[in-house]
Amino acid sequence: MSEIILKSGVIGWPIDHSLSPRLFGYWLKKNSVNGFYKAYAVQKDDINEFLCNMSKLGLVGLNVTVPHKQEVMKYVDHLSDCARKVGAVNTITKKDGLLFGDNTDGYGFIENLRQNYGLTNAFNGDCIVIGAGGAARAIVYALINIGAKKIKIVNRTQSKAEKLAKDIGGPIDVIDWNKRHNSLTEATFVVNTTTLGMKGNPPLELNLSALPKKALINDIVYVPVETTFLRNARARGNPTVDGIGMLLHQARPGFAEWFNKDPLVTEDLRHYVLGINGG
Ligand code: ATR
Repeated sequence: MSEIILKSGVIGWPIDHSLSPRLFGYWLKKNSVNGFYKAYAVQKDDINEFLCNMSKLGLVGLNVTVPHKQEVMKYVDHLSDCARKVGAVNTITKKDGLLFGDNTDGYGFIENLRQNYGLTNAFNGDCIVIGAGGAARAIVYALINIGAKKIKIVNRTQSKAEKLAKDIGGPIDVIDWNKRHNSLTEATFVVNTTTLGMKGNPPLELNLSALPKKALINDIVYVPVETTFLRNARARGNPTVDGIGMLLHQARPGFAEWFNKDPLVTEDLRHYVLGINGG
C-alpha cells in the first residue's frame, strides 16, 4: 500500500515572489513529513474553480497571498472571527468537505515579538500603529486581543484608519499623519505596517526624538531586514524586532493543521528563507 502524501500550496497572482514554497519545503524536510507544497498562479476569475478542485488535486489546505486575500472570503464555507474582522483570509483548511478560512498574520506578528523580545510591558502604554492597510488590520486585531492598553493609528489616508478603528473596535485613537512624530511621547511600542522602507520605496520618515528609549520598535518590512526606521531606533538605544519572523510565524498554524507537526522558527530557517545559507 502506498503512503498518503499530504499536499498543500499557495495561490496568488503573480506567485513567483512567494517565499512560502521555500519555507514549507524547509519544514517538510526538517520534520521528515512525506508532504508536498506548491505555488499555484491563479487569476481572480479562476479562484472559485480552483477551490472547488482542491479535493481533485489532493490539497488539504492552502495559503492565500496578494491580491486574493479578500476575494477568497466569498468562496469559503466558514470564516474565523479574526478573518471576518480583519477582512482577509491567508489560510484555508479543507475539513469534512468544507473550507475554513482564517487569518494568521496577527498570530505571526505576536509570535515574532514573543520570540525575539517577549511581551511583558510592550503593550501597557501607547501602541503606535503606522499604516492602515491589510497588515495593519491584522495587527490591530491582534493587539486588541492581547489586551493592548491604547492603540494609536497613524495613516496617510486618515479615513482608512478611521474605518479600521470602527471595524475592529476597542481602545483605538486615530492620529493625523502630520502629527505622527509627537504621537510617540507615551509609546511603549511602535510598528511600521506601511510599505515605506521596503526595497524600491522611500523610507518611513519619523522623527524619534520624542520616543521613550524603552519602547519596542517593530517593522513588518523584511526586504531589507534592517530598514532605516529600525536602524535609527536601534542607534538611539531602543529595542527592535525585524519583520521576517512575522512571515515565518504566520505560516506555522497552516503547517501544523495540514501536516500534523508544529514547525519551529529558528535562526537557520531565517537565513535559509532569506537566501543567506542554512537548510
Ligand atoms: P498591506 O496589505 O501590505 O498592508 P496595503 O493595504 O496596500 O498593503 O497598505 C499599504 C499601507 O502603506 C497603507 O497604510 C498606505 O497608506 P494609505 O492608506 O494612505 O495609502 C501606506 N503607504 C504606502 N505608501 C505610502 C507613502 N508613500 N506614504 C505614506 N503611507 C504610505
